[in-house]
Amino acid sequence: MWPIRWVLKPLVFLACLIPALHIGLGALNAAGVLHIGAVSLGADPVKVMLHTCGRWTLNFLMIALCMTPLKDLTHWVVWLRFRRMFGLFAFFYVLLHFSVYLLLDQSGKLGDLWQDIVKRPYITIGMLGLLLLIPLAVTSTAKAQRRLGRRWTRLHRLIYVISILGVWHFWWGVKKDIREPLLYVCGLTLLLGYRLWKHRQSLARVSVARFARTDGA
Ligand code: HEM
Repeated sequence: MWPIRWVLKPLVFLACLIPALHIGLGALNAAGVLHIGAVSLGADPVKVMLHTCGRWTLNFLMIALCMTPLKDLTHWVVWLRFRRMFGLFAFFYVLLHFSVYLLLDQSGKLGDLWQDIVKRPYITIGMLGLLLLIPLAVTSTAKAQRRLGRRWTRLHRLIYVISILGVWHFWWGVKKDIREPLLYVCGLTLLLGYRLWKHRQSLARVSVARFARTDGA
């Protein structure tokens, strides 16, 4: 369907870049290269950049996880054609998040990063999420999917673990107000709960079919 490939997908792609564009322009503003009030990142631009990229990593992970339930609800398989794009945007934003942290927050000092990974559990969890996303991004092509066959599906189930790690990282990172991480916990519980329910349904169907076969034999 050409309108999806040539119109909808490029539009969604451009929309996904808006937070990065905002951060990029905000950074230029903060550096004094631009003077546009509308894209100002406030008094602590590094913190805003870090938080915005972290949020969007999590948002894209959740959006990618929404595609299957949406397909099931609407019986519209088109949703699945956006899953890879959203997953790759999660990877893109986590790389930005990590770069802002390493280059601007820690001034590029790898020793300090290592100290943080070892000493602060929420950084350890975040780092694990980032590392686990790498094999998924590398194998996101149709060619890799064909080459890996069923192993690809198993590997890409890591997205569930990564989302849990991401929400956990957010929860542990906040100092007092847990309302927002709690919202993500609820969303993720719904999304993973739906998959568990679907899995149990299909197991039940298989055992009913087996029972019917043995009963008829
Ligand atoms: C899948 C991986 C990751 C996800 C989903 C994620 C997501 C988030 C989210 C949602 C926030 C909170 C933003 C807010 O408060 O508005 C955050 C904060 C933060 N993240 Fe990550 N992150 C990930 C990986 C990492 C990695 C690899 C690092 C660094 C090694 C990191 C370092 C931080 C830091 C320093 C903060 C700020 C905490 C604070 O201000 O107290 N994150 N992240």
